Amino acid sequence: MKVFLLQILAFLLFGGGIHCQASTRRLTFVVKEASYTRLCSTKNILTVNGQFPGPTIYAKKGETIIVDVYNRGKENITIHWHGVNMPRYPWTDGPEYITQCPIQPGSKFSQKIILSSEEGTLWWHAHSDWTRATVHGAIIVYPKNGTKYPFPKPNAEIPIILGTFKLRVDHGKTYLLRIINAALHEALFFSIAKHKMTVVGTDGSYTKPLTRDYITIYPGQTFDVLLEANQLPDHYYMAAKTYSIAPVAQNFYDNTTTTAIVQYRGYYTPSSPLSLPHFPAYNDTNASVQVMAGLRSLADAEHPSNVPLSPSTKLIYTVSVNSFLCPNNSCAGPNGTRFSASINNISFQSPTIDILQAYYYNISGVYGDKFPSVPPLVFDFTADYLPLEYQTPEIGTEVRVLEYNSTVEIVFQGTNLVAGTHHPMHLHGYSFYLVGWGFGNFDKNRDPLRYNLVDPPLQSTISVPTNGWVAIRFEASNPGEGGFIYKAL
Ligand SMILES: *[C@@H]1O[C@H](CO)[C@@H](O)[C@H](O)[C@H]1NC(C)=O
Ligand SMILES: *[C@@H]1O[C@H](CO)[C@@H](O)[C@H](O)[C@H]1NC(C)=O
Ligand SMILES: *[C@@H]1O[C@H](CO)[C@@H](O)[C@H](O)[C@H]1NC(C)=O
Ligand SMILES: *[C@@H]1O[C@H](CO)[C@@H](O)[C@H](O)[C@H]1NC(C)=O
Ligand SMILES: *[C@@H]1O[C@H](CO)[C@@H](O)[C@H](O)[C@H]1NC(C)=O
Ligand SMILES: *[C@@H]1O[C@H](CO)[C@@H](O)[C@H](O)[C@H]1NC(C)=O
Ligand SMILES: *[C@@H]1O[C@H](CO)[C@@H](O)[C@H](O)[C@H]1NC(C)=O
Ligand SMILES: *[C@@H]1O[C@H](CO)[C@@H](O)[C@H](O)[C@H]1NC(C)=O
Ligand SMILES: *[C@@H]1O[C@H](CO)[C@@H](O)[C@H](O)[C@H]1NC(C)=O
Ligand SMILES: *[C@@H]1O[C@H](CO)[C@@H](O)[C@H](O)[C@H]1NC(C)=O
Repeated sequence: MKVFLLQILAFLLFGGGIHCQASTRRLTFVVKEASYTRLCSTKNILTVNGQFPGPTIYAKKGETIIVDVYNRGKENITIHWHGVNMPRYPWTDGPEYITQCPIQPGSKFSQKIILSSEEGTLWWHAHSDWTRATVHGAIIVYPKNGTKYPFPKPNAEIPIILGTFKLRVDHGKTYLLRIINAALHEALFFSIAKHKMTVVGTDGSYTKPLTRDYITIYPGQTFDVLLEANQLPDHYYMAAKTYSIAPVAQNFYDNTTTTAIVQYRGYYTPSSPLSLPHFPAYNDTNASVQVMAGLRSLADAEHPSNVPLSPSTKLIYTVSVNSFLCPNNSCAGPNGTRFSASINNISFQSPTIDILQAYYYNISGVYGDKFPSVPPLVFDFTADYLPLEYQTPEIGTEVRVLEYNSTVEIVFQGTNLVAGTHHPMHLHGYSFYLVGWGFGNFDKNRDPLRYNLVDPPLQSTISVPTNGWVAIRFEASNPGEGGFIYKAL
């Protein structure tokens, strides 16, 4: 019997394009240090081909690309194709110690990228330690020859990796902004003064048009958004600001507003001063989920929805921030503890060889297969006050093995342990349907009645709302893939 692995990981994090034609192309990524100047200071950063952000990979739906990755840096590295499903070929998807060992300094590894159903904007990034902070870039997947966008063709397309953008526009034209949140852990509100945006896709799948004043984009997500340059020619701020429930005073996150200017071409005197777009309050959790709540897939003949209607496997996973005691309370977390994160109270310990290899060659002792299907302890997960003794998780390298072609529902339940916060979740090698979400504790009798099984959005990264839950469904038809990545704070 064929099986695939659902590896469950919980980590805690603190604080020039290449163009396409034929069906298998080869690209070269040389990972190396380069000096980079920003805000008047120059430092060495790790780059791909000396570029920051790294090269954009342009492709057509269904294409296969081979990327020869040369590690000329000083650290181990892997490159992950974020949101690419890699059907039946998990071997070069990148996650360190999950599907491969890292590429060591001085060595080379050829990574195949197999595009299948994805269409829209995806991205790639390094997947070891902190290297992804500078080693990342966009993957833009165009419709196949003979097919087109399910929305009017924009006049121009602009990839925007948040933090590194500028934009000049002509009045009357429509622009497709391909927005990627490459931040390590920050959810961002993004808005353009006096302009509305129409979301037409996320994570490499199209959506029904959703017109909004702002969007919330979680770490790892991509949004394809149409911007109509339909206002008086002027300069307008576009801006991004962190959503966070952490108290401002604690300095947990960067609370500055990143701006860039949308500049209409032409002769006029720009307004002064420019006004900032209106944003929800930095800690407005309800506002932060409204875009997610409004997303619907196209679910038409050309883009059918294949959401499993009666899943064969149902799992409930709590996602928590945790704390470990340190000798003499010497760590930097609350009360001298060390932050951690867990799923169903298991905090992931990285193995020494990759899990996929251990599975394939039947090497025992690398991981266990006892990952719990439901929370080991049921309590009022989102209560204001929770017993301190619940905070310390178990440590383990546990895997959930799923039967090939089983249909799976996972409810991710956020908890209020240590700090109830939002939890971005990314599933390697899969897109999944977001069928439901809510605040508070998931109710297995009442909540499924409100699921969207008609046109749920297809995502590869979602965020569990602060003190809330999400329900996702997918078919386990991609053996070897399925590492969940969860990063808290
Ligand atoms: C780099 O990878 C190799 C092979 O997996 C491993 O033995 C080594 O410890 C890694 N180095 C670091 C600094 O993690
Ligand atoms: C797709 O269209 C482009 C431009 O029209 C052409 O160069 C290319 O050969 C076509 N590819 C295929 C596979 O038909
Ligand atoms: C940003 O955080 C600092 C402290 O870390 C605080 O002094 C400042 O008021 C905050 N700014 C805003 C706009 O919230
Ligand atoms: C949001 O922040 C404001 C001011 O910083 C504070 O008064 C309010 O209580 C916060 N709201 C929540 C839900 O934490
Ligand atoms: C959340 O926001 C939506 C949309 O703005 C609004 O309709 C709803 O009343 C809000 N809910 C709460 C609890 O504030
Ligand atoms: C903890 O503190 C005690 C008393 O000050 C000291 O004797 C001990 O060495 C400390 N332990 C560590 C691990 O720092
Ligand atoms: C820190 O310790 C105090 C007193 O024991 C306790 O009330 C508080 O909840 C602790 N905070 C955390 C985050 O553990
Ligand atoms: C895998 O290893 C286990 C224990 O080491 C053994 O019982 C089992 O038969 C092996 N399976 C295969 C397919 O080799
Ligand atoms: C997690 O497991 C540890 C160790 O068994 C236990 O002390 C703690 O209470 C558990 N917490 C929860 C929320 O299950
Ligand atoms: C798994 O699903 C695929 C696609 O739906 C189908 O072609 C295949 O026959 C199925 N295999 C098994 C073993 O059920």
